[in-house]
Amino acid sequence: MKVTVSRKAHFNAAHRLYRPDWSFEKNDAVFGKCNNPNFHGHNYDLTVSVTGEIDPETGYVVDVKILKDFIKSEIEDAFDHKNLNVDVPEFKNLNPTAENIVVVIYDKLKAVLDSNLVLEVTLYETPRNFVTYSG
Ligand code: NI
Repeated sequence: MKVTVSRKAHFNAAHRLYRPDWSFEKNDAVFGKCNNPNFHGHNYDLTVSVTGEIDPETGYVVDVKILKDFIKSEIEDAFDHKNLNVDVPEFKNLNPTAENIVVVIYDKLKAVLDSNLVLEVTLYETPRNFVTYSG
């Protein structure tokens, strides 16, 4: 019996979308207000879903406490109240679009979760704009 267990999380972060190898004009044309040189913030919401077999001994697919602690240590502690471009090494040379952020989050969680678990991450940049990655 495969069951999906989900946990919601949240972080606030600033970012700027731009490519340093493009002119300001080209960045402005492609990224618009998101190219503001002084950065801007989002309230990011996250749903982390883990699918796997129910362990017959514990009755768990995953201990939600462990999942919660991984989300805190890997994602919230690393991203919350940070400037993604400046403070988070993964985005030093990677444009912090929602698409790239969700892949980074997936990779960080995948590295610490039991490899038998199937992971899917949905990241909300706004209540209406969200991206999903499952590897
Ligand atoms: Ni933005």
